[in-house]
Amino acid sequence: MSSTGDGGRLNRGTAGVTASDRTIKHSTGDGMKLLELYAKMKKDISYIEKELERSIDVDHPMLREASLHLLKAGGKRIRPVFVLLGAKFGTYDLAKIKHVAVPLELIHMASLVHDDVIDDANTRRGQLTVRSKWDNRIAMYTGDYIFAKALSIVTKLPDPAIHQVMSKALVEMSIGEMEQIRFFFHAEQSVRDYLLRIKRKTALLLAVSCQLGAMAAGAAERDARRLYNFGYYAGMAFQIRDDLLDICGTEKEIGKPPGSDIKQGNITIPVIFALRNPALRPYLLDELARIEACDGQTDVRGFLDIIRGSTGIAEAERMASTYIDKAIRVLEGLPDIQAKKDLVSFAHFVGNRSY
Ligand code: IPE
Ligand code: IPE
Ligand code: MG
Ligand code: MG
Repeated sequence: MSSTGDGGRLNRGTAGVTASDRTIKHSTGDGMKLLELYAKMKKDISYIEKELERSIDVDHPMLREASLHLLKAGGKRIRPVFVLLGAKFGTYDLAKIKHVAVPLELIHMASLVHDDVIDDANTRRGQLTVRSKWDNRIAMYTGDYIFAKALSIVTKLPDPAIHQVMSKALVEMSIGEMEQIRFFFHAEQSVRDYLLRIKRKTALLLAVSCQLGAMAAGAAERDARRLYNFGYYAGMAFQIRDDLLDICGTEKEIGKPPGSDIKQGNITIPVIFALRNPALRPYLLDELARIEACDGQTDVRGFLDIIRGSTGIAEAERMASTYIDKAIRVLEGLPDIQAKKDLVSFAHFVGNRSY
C-alpha cells in the first residue's frame, strides 16, 4: 500500500484504495491494524468506489463535474465500510449491499456540500469546496442532485423497511443541522443539547450504515439492532473527535483551517466544558460576543489557545472514550466472526483519529 501523503484520505486511483500509513500510524496505536483492515477490504471498497463514480457519472455535465470533484477528493469512506462490515453478519452479496453502501456515502457527501455552504468553508479534504470552486448556488443544487441519486439507488432494493430506516435518518440529520444553527453562540446550552444535536447530525447516519448493511444482507434482526447501537456509539465518539480536531488539529491533518466551528458560532463540547470554569468563563463569553459581532471574520487563535489549555479537552476525550467502550461492549452479543474484530479496530480508530 502506498503512502499518498494526503492526510489519510482514501482515494480511488490505479491502486484502488490507498491510505497514508504515516498519518494513521501517528494518530493511533491501532494505525497498522486499521491500514491492514482497509487493505483487506480493498477489493470491496474499490468496487464501491467505482459504483460511486458510476452513480453520479450521468445526466448534467456541471452537476457531474461538481459531484466528481468532491468524490475524487477522497474521504475515509467510513459509512460504506460500516455497511460492508454490518453485512458480514448476514449473507454477504456485494451486488445487493452496494444499494445501501453507495447511497449512504452519497448522503454523507451531499450533506458535506451543503454544510460547506452553511460554514462558508473554502477547503475540505484538503481541496477546494464545491462552493469555492463554483459558487453557493451550484453547491446547493449539487447537494440536492447527490441526495436524489442516493434515493434512486436505494429504491432498487424492494424492502420498504430499508427505505424507512434511511429516510428517517435523513429527516433526523436535517433537524440536527437546524438545531445547530439555533444554538449558534448560545453559551447557556447544556451537554445534553450538544449530545442530542450530534446524535442527529452524525451518529444516526453511522448507526444506520451498520444496520442497513445487516438488513440488506438479511441478518437476524437482533444483530442488526446491535450493529445499529454500535454505529450510534461510535458515531457519537466520531463527532466528539471531529469537534476536538477542529480545536486541536492542524490544517494539514484536518484538510481545512482549525477554528471553523467557533467562527461559525458552533459551540462544541470542549467549549461547553471550558465555560463551566469560573476562571475562564468571563473571558470566553467576551470572546464569543466579539466573534459573533464580527460574524466570524476575526482571529480566533486566542480563544482556541484558552480551550486547548483547559480541562475541556481531556473531558471531551474522556467522553469520546466512554462512547467507544460502549460501542465495543454492544458488539459482545454478536456472533464471533472476523467482522466483529474489525469493528472493534474501527471503533478504536474512530475514538483516536487525527483526521
Ligand atoms: C466529516 O465526516 C463530517 C462529520 C460527520 C464529522 P468524515 O470525517 O467522515 O468525512 P470524510 O468523508 O472522511 O471526508
Ligand atoms: C458534520 O459536522 C456535518 C454533517 C453532518 C453534514 P461538521 O460541520 O463538524 O463537519 P466538518 O467539520 O465541517 O467536516
Ligand atoms: Mg462543518
Ligand atoms: Mg467539524
